[in-house]
Amino acid sequence: MNKKLKLGLFGFGVVGQGLYDVLHKTKGINAEVVRICVKQHGKERPIPMQYFTFEKNDILNDDSLHVVAEMIDNADEAFEIVSTALKKGKGVVSASKKMIAEHFEELHELQLKHNAPFLYEASACGSIPVIRNLEEYYDNDLLESFEGICNGTTNYILTKTAEENLSYADALHQAQQLGFAESNPKLDVEGYDAKYKLTILLGHTFGLFVKPEQIFNFGIQNLSVADSTYAREKGFRIKLIAHTYRTDNKVVAYVIPKFIKPHGLFFDVRNEFNAVQLGAAFSDKQFFMGKGAGAHPTGSAVLSDISALSYNYRYEYKKVAQNGKVPFSNDHDLTLYVRYEDDATLDELGVHSITQRYWSPDLKYVIGKVNISKLLAANLNDRKDIFVAKVEE
Ligand code: HSE
Repeated sequence: MNKKLKLGLFGFGVVGQGLYDVLHKTKGINAEVVRICVKQHGKERPIPMQYFTFEKNDILNDDSLHVVAEMIDNADEAFEIVSTALKKGKGVVSASKKMIAEHFEELHELQLKHNAPFLYEASACGSIPVIRNLEEYYDNDLLESFEGICNGTTNYILTKTAEENLSYADALHQAQQLGFAESNPKLDVEGYDAKYKLTILLGHTFGLFVKPEQIFNFGIQNLSVADSTYAREKGFRIKLIAHTYRTDNKVVAYVIPKFIKPHGLFFDVRNEFNAVQLGAAFSDKQFFMGKGAGAHPTGSAVLSDISALSYNYRYEYKKVAQNGKVPFSNDHDLTLYVRYEDDATLDELGVHSITQRYWSPDLKYVIGKVNISKLLAANLNDRKDIFVAKVEE
């Protein structure tokens, strides 16, 4: 049944305003924003002040508001709002990937316990309808792999630096100006944002709740001119890719830069676009592409969730309850390009099965195999002396 939904909105930043705009430009949706809770007093707002409140309970305690749309930046406050709203039996939509990833299992339990729907399509891959696709179309165990460009900021930086010769700092600055980057851009460039999204997608791809800290992520912050030259000379483009797949009776998941060959599906995915490649047992590969960041693309994903709530849609997490699930593991070897400074790094990472080795006074790299558990233990994001990228085999 399509019912008129009254919304309480938390946050009026890039995503909150995007949602408001998209909602007002979409005729066929039976929902209205009644109240908006914001933090900052005295800020000029593009819509009348009568909509705004600074008191969260004005929304949370208002029984006439059926749905809470949580679009704020602070993950801890977001969890407080979302969990309170679910406990009150309200429908909730959210785009807060860090918050959802960090509390995924608990949020699942809250939905069951309080019989309250929680939708978060906008939290992963922006405007690409990936979560509902994984939930509904792939509600079976035929799905074997997920690979995605899940972060718009890093794809924007990689595109602008490789194709337009922009400096890394200028490209990041542009991504910030355009509203793509997180307020702490380390989350984007070090692969954390992509990892939070992957954590959520892992739940819907394979029915597994895995803590973000168990998943290896490495970003593009150490990418050097030498690494880019290596890629260019071989005709590759570098993309930050979130992976999860079944292999040898286990599920692995990690975020890492990857050299993409010219025929690769991700090769031409530019700027803030995201893309997803699914591999399934009988249908082989499927590819989806769409804007992964920015006010309106993200707002449109939130809008779609609101519309779905008006038809009483909820995620059923069928794969979570499935028997015979394959466990998550980090015991899996990847073939990597490893640029390093100190020879001890190769021992520390346990690099083996080396097929290429380059050594000069200015540049050292190998192509070889590294176990994901070693990568995770080495805290690569805290180091400046190393860059790793996956090599397509
Ligand atoms: N910072 C994120 C990105 C925003 O660049 O993809 C969208 O989740």
